[in-house]
Amino acid sequence: MQNLSDHIMDIAQNAIRANATRVEIDVEESEARDALVLVIRDNGDGMDADTVQRVTDPFFTSRTTRKVGLGVPLLKQNAEATGGRLSIRSAPGKGTAVEATFSRSHLDRPPVGDIAGTIVLLAAANPGMEVRYRYVTDKGTYTFSSGETRTFLGDTPLDDPEIVAALREMIAENIKDIQV
Ligand SMILES: Nc1ncnc2c1ncn2[C@@H]1O[C@H](COP(=O)(O)OP(=O)(O)O)[C@@H](O)[C@H]1O
Ligand SMILES: [Mg+2]
Repeated sequence: MQNLSDHIMDIAQNAIRANATRVEIDVEESEARDALVLVIRDNGDGMDADTVQRVTDPFFTSRTTRKVGLGVPLLKQNAEATGGRLSIRSAPGKGTAVEATFSRSHLDRPPVGDIAGTIVLLAAANPGMEVRYRYVTDKGTYTFSSGETRTFLGDTPLDDPEIVAALREMIAENIKDIQV
């Protein structure tokens, strides 16, 4: 079974392939509302209405190297298996927002996985892209911005292995602080 962090990586890769310069990843987790909501927003090429409709169909993909696109349909399937849903808002030239909602306590709800590692990997591998991660729970909000982090680091590259390890630990700790 795929972790939430695997889904994040997959959906973010779609944004990168769509030439996004900004990807915003929101995870909202509420014990009180028994909800886990994942939103991934990008400012990439976007899709027309027809494409959006077909994207949730596992036999649709605009890539030529592989016939089957599975990232979005898998996320949809996993969300719906918990009684949740998936929705996509997109417009050509404007960007795309993919939103998946899960019942947090449902047995089939995917584990969150290594979100900190995934965010750092996305940030390190895409120097020209702003990767913003926001985690909101009943206990508070944490935000990571790759752009702000790069400014803070100055001449030290974000993809330096020691920096990557340190950032991963920092993000993981911040997540843990407000996890419900
Ligand atoms: N954020 C996005 N921006 C533009 N097009 C997208 C985006 N996400 C998905 N798509 C379109 O939907 C298709 C299916 O995506 P996905 O299910 O992840 O499968 P795959 O990535 O293997 O093609 C992509 O090939 C692309 O055409
Ligand atoms: Mg994909």
